Order: sequence, then structure tokens, then C-alpha cells
Amino acid sequence: MSVVYLNGEYLNKDLATVSVDDRGFLLADGLYEVTSAYKGNFFRFEQHIQRLIRGLDFLRINYDPVDILEMHLRLLAENKLEDQEASIVYLQITRGVAPRTHCFPPEETLPTVYAFARDFKRPDSKRWGQGYAAITVPDNRWGRVDIKSIALLPNVLAQQEAIDSGAIEALLVKDGMVLEGSHSNVFGVFNGVVTTHPATHEILHGVVRGSIIELAQKMGMAVIERPIALDEMRGAEEIFFTGTTAEVRPTVYLDGCPVGDGKVGPVTKALYDKFRSVVDK
Ligand code: PDD
Repeated sequence: MSVVYLNGEYLNKDLATVSVDDRGFLLADGLYEVTSAYKGNFFRFEQHIQRLIRGLDFLRINYDPVDILEMHLRLLAENKLEDQEASIVYLQITRGVAPRTHCFPPEETLPTVYAFARDFKRPDSKRWGQGYAAITVPDNRWGRVDIKSIALLPNVLAQQEAIDSGAIEALLVKDGMVLEGSHSNVFGVFNGVVTTHPATHEILHGVVRGSIIELAQKMGMAVIERPIALDEMRGAEEIFFTGTTAEVRPTVYLDGCPVGDGKVGPVTKALYDKFRSVVDK
């Protein structure tokens, strides 16, 4: 039985209960973070927390994440994940429990803070080396997707559409531009240049995305952050997605058509190997 964190307590998951009046349940009025840990070491923890604080400020949820690292470490320990190759902590903060109204509840309402930890499995090198398929779908999300809101209905529907068509990720398209995946960021390689949408309000500012940009630059690759049209993306030499659990995922088919020569490309492979060497050190 896993041990979860709920409002200051560590308890068995089946004992953790939340009110039906919770604004997360009724209104999706909350935020989340997913942070990876490799053999007990959190990856870029501070960046996850900075993103969380930015979201809390934007939503005006009054929560001070002062003991947050301690809580993350304890969840790993409670669940015996400290030596695990790769694990995640999922953290969710909602505006708390109050009778349903659209406007904010009374000032004294406390946020609901919930977190759990689990391991995550990476694909073996053979599977990874075969690459993956993605489809394109319209981006039906709200205008502030840089805020990691728990309101994920368009992402859920997009991801399910991908699965239903035998793919693993949906690439979200708005006004003819490819922005990101349903739960990951996207990169294209054009004439060897590693390219991704700029960190605007139209994408989540992914922690792995930032790390890959830095690693690519350190490796001497040319990197540019600029919008990418769907038509251009269809002609990319390589496409890959990045995210906390996806890490670096090569896409070799987009909407059923091969990307480049239909094989995992050298840029994607080099970046994944480098990323692995950093996190598995
Ligand atoms: N998803 N874009 C979207 C829409 C995401 O949901 C995510 C992460 C990312 C990648 O961000 P990061 O590199 O910080 O994980 C980009 C998480 C993992 C999830 O929803 O489970």
C-alpha cells in the first residue's frame, strides 16, 4: 500500500479522503506538478517549485511551499523509492473545500495539498530505438497553458485520440503552428538546428525542455526557439517530445507518414544519451 501526503499528514492511500466540496473536484480549481527523482535525487527541483509558485501567484492560491522538498523526500522514503532508478512525485494544490460558487471562497479557506510518489518505467533501448508515432490534433485549451492547471480535459481527449489511433502522443496545433504535445513539449530538427516553440503562454515551460536546450547548446548544436508551422514540421529531419516521464521520445511517424527516413535520428539519440548520462550519474 502506498503512502501519500494529504494536508500535512502521511497516510496509507486508502485512508486519504478529500471532501466532495473540494474545488479541485467541483471546478478543477487547482494546480499540479510532476517532479522526477533518479535514485532519490530530484531533477531540477527548484525549477519545478518556481513554476508552481508562479502558478499559485497567478491563481491567487495562498500556499507557501516552504517544506516542500522535505515532503518530497519523505514520500520517496515512505514508499521505498530512494534507490529506484526513476520515480516521480505528483503534487496537487487546490483552492480548498467550500460550498460551490464560481467566485473565490472565504479568505480563511485552506488549500488542499495532496501528493503521491511512484516509480516510472523507461522503455528499454530496443523499444526506444524503434521510435514512436504521434498524431496532430487541434489545440482546444485555454489561453494560459503556461499555468500547470489541473483542468486537463482537452489534453485528456487529445491523448486518447492518439492512443485510439495507435500513436503515443498528440501534437497540438493552433493557427497552423505546432505548439507542444498533450503532456510534453516538442522539438523539430531542421538542417541540423534544434528547434522548439518559444516559452510563451501557449506552451508549458517544461523543465526537461529547458534542460535539453541547455544540453544541446553545451554539445555545440545550434538551437533556436521560434514558432514552427505544421507544414514545416511534416518535413522535419527529426521530431522528439520531452517531458518528466517521457524524458526524450523520438517520433518517427507523424499522422502515419515517416519523419525523415522513418528512423530515430542522430540528434535525438545524442541528446537522449546526454540527458541519461546527466540524470543517471
Ligand atoms: N506533463 N507540456 C505539457 C502540456 C505537459 O503536461 C508537460 C508535463 C510538459 C513537459 O513538462 P516537464 O518537462 O516539466 O515535465 C509539457 C506532466 C509530466 C504530466 O502532466 O504528467
